[in-house]
Amino acid sequence: MGLQTAQPSLESCGASAHGSFLLLLLSLGWLLPSRAQAEDSRLGAMTPWLQGTSWDLSWQRPELTVFLSRDRRDTEKKVCPPERKAHAVDENLVLYEEWELEACVDGALLAAQMDLVNMLPFTYQQLGVFKRKLDEFYPQGYPESLIQHLGYFFLELTPADIHKWNVTSLETVKALLQVSKGQKRDGQVAALIARYAAGGGQLDKAALDTLATFSPTYLCFLSPEQLGTVQPSVLWAVRPQHLEACRPPQMHVLYPRAHAAFQNVSRSEYFAKIKPYLGGAPTEDLRALSRQKVNMDMATFKTLQTEAVLPLTIAEVQNLLGPNLVGLKAEEENSPVREWILRQRQDDLDSLGLGLHGGIPNGYLVMDLSFREALSGAARLLGPGPVLTAIPTLLLTLTPK
Ligand SMILES: *[C@@H]1O[C@H](CO)[C@@H](O)[C@H](O)[C@H]1NC(C)=O
Ligand SMILES: *[C@@H]1O[C@H](CO)[C@@H](O)[C@H](O)[C@H]1NC(C)=O
Repeated sequence: MGLQTAQPSLESCGASAHGSFLLLLLSLGWLLPSRAQAEDSRLGAMTPWLQGTSWDLSWQRPELTVFLSRDRRDTEKKVCPPERKAHAVDENLVLYEEWELEACVDGALLAAQMDLVNMLPFTYQQLGVFKRKLDEFYPQGYPESLIQHLGYFFLELTPADIHKWNVTSLETVKALLQVSKGQKRDGQVAALIARYAAGGGQLDKAALDTLATFSPTYLCFLSPEQLGTVQPSVLWAVRPQHLEACRPPQMHVLYPRAHAAFQNVSRSEYFAKIKPYLGGAPTEDLRALSRQKVNMDMATFKTLQTEAVLPLTIAEVQNLLGPNLVGLKAEEENSPVREWILRQRQDDLDSLGLGLHGGIPNGYLVMDLSFREALSGAARLLGPGPVLTAIPTLLLTLTPK
């Protein structure tokens, strides 16, 4: 519709260069330099225009009609016709076929004039060609000088592309976050944050606020200090897979914040929400869950910190896991189950009827864990005889826990 109304005024311009035509479209406000808005117009309005179906472009350049009406059967590499060689990113390129862009535009030019790439209404296919050219030109990843100017072109990139980068500028990160808002680029955003954090970069409050509008796939790339300031809304949006890569110092920050954030829900809902965070939970809170008989699944139990699990009694673990207790057997060689078993009396373990092995032999006092480890080390060195004779002496000298 915009095209139809624009046409008479264009024709009155006679043989004006179509640069001014594009400027007119820009000033009419329906071709906007913003890629987000250009996306609609590019496919909606530009495609019929490019194909020359709604009106004739021959007023402007005779050869154009010829190549626009030709079908796109040829995909083999072609040589650039000398007169079509691109020396600048300008509106002429919008009318190039993909093969021409492939043959006539080079990566260095695109990198130098990225701002213009974002100003012009290129189709997705054309942008795809540009991305290929840039990837060929920078096989090791884009330099930061280009990343600074990517703007909306960022939306064409994959997380794998971004993982090759070095990003040190917070301004660049913020600009790319703005561009990605509402564009479902969670993977790209996570990769960007990962690269920025890997270089030691710190986010400020504004950046964290913008990040809060994305799915929290980036959380484990933030430092404990930064995690201390993420909004509660982010904590509510977390899914278990978002926290898989988090390390204990990060979980120690996230858990109490999530615990505080989820106080307004019912007990059963609370447990469902807090589950992904339990890797940061202290023993006391695990005991509270045990009293509530939450029937924790083994997958969650495996995420608990060993230090938090060790002090739990057999009865507490039994109440915590409920029917999932049988899962302990399959995990008896793995943390934190292995270390926990090592702490329990074997006859108590036997009472569970799961065939768990490795508990403290019947008849001995429960000693400090380091003593047991020293003992098993000594047993390996000395064989059973001397250790057994040494035990009564050790039992006398060590204080039971
Ligand atoms: C990123 O930095 C590393 C180390 O300085 C360097 O080896 C690598 O080439 C850089 N990558 C890019 C894409 O600039
Ligand atoms: C609890 O609070 C959060 C955030 O303030 C909110 O999104 C959620 O709907 C609330 N839930 C209930 C049950 O009130």
